[in-house]
Amino acid sequence: MAHETISNLLHEERRFAPPAALAAEANVKAEAYARAASDREAFWAEAADRLTWTKRWDRVLDDDNAPFFKWFVGGELNAAYNCVDRHVEAGNGDRVAIHWVGEPLEDRRDITYAQLKDEVSRAANAIEELGVERGDRVAIYMPMIPEAVVAMLACARLGAVHTVVFGGFSSDALATRIDDCQAKLVITSDGGYRRGSASALKPAVDEALIKLDNANRGLVENVLVVRRTGQDVAWNGDVDIWWHDVVDHASEIHVPQPMDAEQPLYVMYTSGTTGKPKGILHTTGGYLAQAAYTHWAQFDLKADDVYWCTADIGWVTGHSYIVYGPLANGATQVLYEGTPDSPERGRWWKIIEDHKVTKFYTAPTAIRSFMKQGSAVPDSYDLSSLRILGSVGEPINPEAYVWYRDTIGGGRTPIIDTWWQTETGATLMTPLPGVTSGKPGSAMLAVPGVDVDVVDEDGTPVGNGEGGYLVVTSPWPSMLRTLWRDDDRYVDTYWSKYAAQGYYFAGDGAKKDEDGDIWVLGRVDDVMNVSGHRLSTTEIESALVSHPRVAEAAVVGASDPDTGQAVVAYVILRESPESVEGIEKELANHVRTVIGPIAKPRDLMIVPELPKTRSGKIMRRLLRDVAEGRQVGDTTTLMDADIVSKIAAGQATST
Ligand code: WT7
Repeated sequence: MAHETISNLLHEERRFAPPAALAAEANVKAEAYARAASDREAFWAEAADRLTWTKRWDRVLDDDNAPFFKWFVGGELNAAYNCVDRHVEAGNGDRVAIHWVGEPLEDRRDITYAQLKDEVSRAANAIEELGVERGDRVAIYMPMIPEAVVAMLACARLGAVHTVVFGGFSSDALATRIDDCQAKLVITSDGGYRRGSASALKPAVDEALIKLDNANRGLVENVLVVRRTGQDVAWNGDVDIWWHDVVDHASEIHVPQPMDAEQPLYVMYTSGTTGKPKGILHTTGGYLAQAAYTHWAQFDLKADDVYWCTADIGWVTGHSYIVYGPLANGATQVLYEGTPDSPERGRWWKIIEDHKVTKFYTAPTAIRSFMKQGSAVPDSYDLSSLRILGSVGEPINPEAYVWYRDTIGGGRTPIIDTWWQTETGATLMTPLPGVTSGKPGSAMLAVPGVDVDVVDEDGTPVGNGEGGYLVVTSPWPSMLRTLWRDDDRYVDTYWSKYAAQGYYFAGDGAKKDEDGDIWVLGRVDDVMNVSGHRLSTTEIESALVSHPRVAEAAVVGASDPDTGQAVVAYVILRESPESVEGIEKELANHVRTVIGPIAKPRDLMIVPELPKTRSGKIMRRLLRDVAEGRQVGDTTTLMDADIVSKIAAGQATST
């Protein structure tokens, strides 16, 4: 981020104190910070006690084999039981768990906790019948329909490890993930509705199965297909099974088995600094305890709330703050299938008005795009039910924060800017709505029981007014346990930079302001954040190089007013550019095919050479200067200093 932006941010003087009534009744008050600090383990044990355990733990935190930490050792619980059955047993079976809203207007379904229990039990019986056992992996590739939530919970009920792959990912990306975690079952649907029409999903699964490594052929025994759109699908009778054929006829009696607190719950793939996505492993007890606690604390969850998180279940936000956190808390929530502006621009606001949503959680990129459309659209809906608004995924710029608060929240609602990662499993930093006076653009401070700091290269905490690297200085319950089948990469990526201090390295830059409050500035590694989606520069470079005409490629994340960052690619061709007119668009679409639409470069430029150091390392920093239209920085270490000015003089093609 440019220095100018950093200092603008730090001159932000606005403060928004919690509304008095909310503060007086808040679930979590200021005393929680001191209590957690005085005995962190007792604090998290109390949070874990909000769940139902079939066997109590012997030890809260086992740090004997750091950084392979364990939480609630010896304890046993079932995540699906905690998210569903116990609410029914407590007499809340008639409470709506999910107000599902399909994209086609009037396509709605309300699901009570009692109905969810029956559906999850039937699905668990059906999946078990297909031979899935505790510890087996199940890939889920689905649109935002209730069956996606049911499928996740059915796996959790059996102790099968789910790996949800975002429905916008390509068949290649799906195949890589199935290969890496060796899934034996894939759950999908014929398609889903996006922007007014049925878009297919099943064909990508069919293609992925063909693209699996040779060693993994035949690994996927079945594909379980939900009928959502009714569109035609190719059918392989040896493998494919309709969901309704097996789930609808299964018994709704299924006894949840107790799982060890450290039983793997899911693997979520995310981009790292290399071309290979990392399989983040989360386990059961600590994860569920912190997801549930933070959801209850940060949204100040009350019995009459209607909560809505707009994330896709294909990302970690959907896991922690649609499925596990809210359902463990017995919340009533909206689940929406479609896009924000279909069939009309006011669709989201209409959903808030219709369902009287009280707590709303979305991403800065969405807020900025609504902001661009102006206030007239949201102003024409009744949004007075809203009480707290959340933001996640990337830094929220102060303008978007204030617009969100004023236009969507009517100036009444605290904004919680929640900082966390796929790896952290749950929120680690956020203002608390009943305690913290929020500053627009700042995630402020750690949640009670979590210790974060901003440190310099040597691991020394920076002073107020200074910047450095964001670290987590003590283990937390919902932390990743390792990378799937890659302990070395786990240690190397997160724990080697500050091995001496034992700090977790988050990969984000941050700054402490004069009051010591923390402002997250963005990634300090080769990871980009495009519309809140995490992408690796190397992964996109590999996709480009896989095109037969490409000799070499360099990708950078350039700042973009709408998407936060945008993908900008520089490509060297194998042949002369004159002979391949229109190649830029073709290459951009190639990335789209290999990874998915979110990774498609915004701009692509054919260049004769790339700026490299004498040791052959691509200087992405200089390419970012070019992409952002800045004066190019220090080029003295370059092998050929002219190359950058040649590139800067050229014209990128917007794709
Ligand atoms: C990266 C993690 C958190 C779930 C969704 C994204 C950035 C996330 C914030 C925030 C500033 C943020 C960081 C982080 N990020 N939330 N409130 N303020 N930056 O999860 O895909 O694992 O990405 O998103 O750069 O490292 P993810």
